[in-house]
Amino acid sequence: MKKYLVTGCAGFIGSTLTDKLLKQGESVVGVDVFRDYYDVNIKRHNISGALKNSNFTLIEKDLSTDLDFLNEFLNPSDELVIYHLAAQAGVRKSWGSDFRIYTKDNIDVTQNLLEWAHTRGSIKNFVYASSSSIYGVPKVLPMTEDKTVPIPYSPYGVTKLAAENLVRLYTANMGLPTASLRFFTVYGPRQRPDMAFNRFIQAAFKNQPIGVFGNGGQTRDFTFIDDIVEGLRLAENSTKGIAMNLGGGNRVTLLHTIQTLGKVMEQEIKIEFSESKLGDVPDTWASAELAFKELGWKPSISLEEGLKREVNWLRSL
Ligand SMILES: NC(=O)c1ccc[n+]([C@@H]2O[C@H](COP(=O)([O-])OP(=O)(O)OC[C@H]3O[C@@H](n4cnc5c(N)ncnc54)[C@H](O)[C@@H]3O)[C@@H](O)[C@H]2O)c1
Repeated sequence: MKKYLVTGCAGFIGSTLTDKLLKQGESVVGVDVFRDYYDVNIKRHNISGALKNSNFTLIEKDLSTDLDFLNEFLNPSDELVIYHLAAQAGVRKSWGSDFRIYTKDNIDVTQNLLEWAHTRGSIKNFVYASSSSIYGVPKVLPMTEDKTVPIPYSPYGVTKLAAENLVRLYTANMGLPTASLRFFTVYGPRQRPDMAFNRFIQAAFKNQPIGVFGNGGQTRDFTFIDDIVEGLRLAENSTKGIAMNLGGGNRVTLLHTIQTLGKVMEQEIKIEFSESKLGDVPDTWASAELAFKELGWKPSISLEEGLKREVNWLRSL
């Protein structure tokens, strides 16, 4: 029987993917340790719908420990697709002593899971959630998989790249089927509360000024959550160990985004500027050609439509 293992299943992207898989009638085992990087009640809420579905099993365990517990929930004959989304996210927290959390949850956990998958066998694919943060500050844009040398600009980016390299090694040396997807700033319903749009919308609800780090001229290639989930689903059949960008289509300055948000919320939005944070890059811009060639993937949701959906979600809470 085919089964899906989703790590980080209670997080923003993991829970949305889990809901999609269940909707498609698939059988899902989800693992999450409910780290308190942000309010764990948000994660409980994210996963509450899935928990009502008999095709879903939740395992509340730390993936940096011995992974024998996974074997209790999976038959050796189950053909497994692993979506590895568990990580310590966030660029800004990754400095100082907090870096230990990043090396553990991003590098050690990935190596642990790869080793378990390789030893277990019957893996249809291991899909790793990589990040645009691996690119750093390249001189030439857009960021293109075979042209842009990945030189991260934050400790977070260093750990995401290290883990992506580990994934590649398990394909190159052991033939483990894998794919890595480099997500570009994901937004939409369930977006993490530390991320810009969520903070902006919450501030606008209270008529408070929006806090912008830097001068607002920085650009981001925003990617709507449903497009990311679509890319993850398509990547199930891409098993050659290729790393692909998932982004493109909505590259705008932060100031433009705030203007669009004002339009969507039909209100004037005030901005309070402060200094850029360490590790923040000036621009991200994805070439999405490889993902189109390999997966047939194309982002489809406009920034305005995506923002509307995030605003409606936050309003409904
Ligand atoms: N959100 C984005 O814009 C974005 C961009 C690029 C890459 N990514 C990557 O996508 C993935 C998902 O991001 P997200 O925004 O949904 O983050 P998230 O923080 O909402 O979800 C990650 C989940 O992983 C869990 N986790 C962390 N360490 C664990 C461990 N040791 N064992 C078990 N569970 C553990 C956390 O409790 C959390 O629920 C991450 O790998 C992240 O690096 C996200």
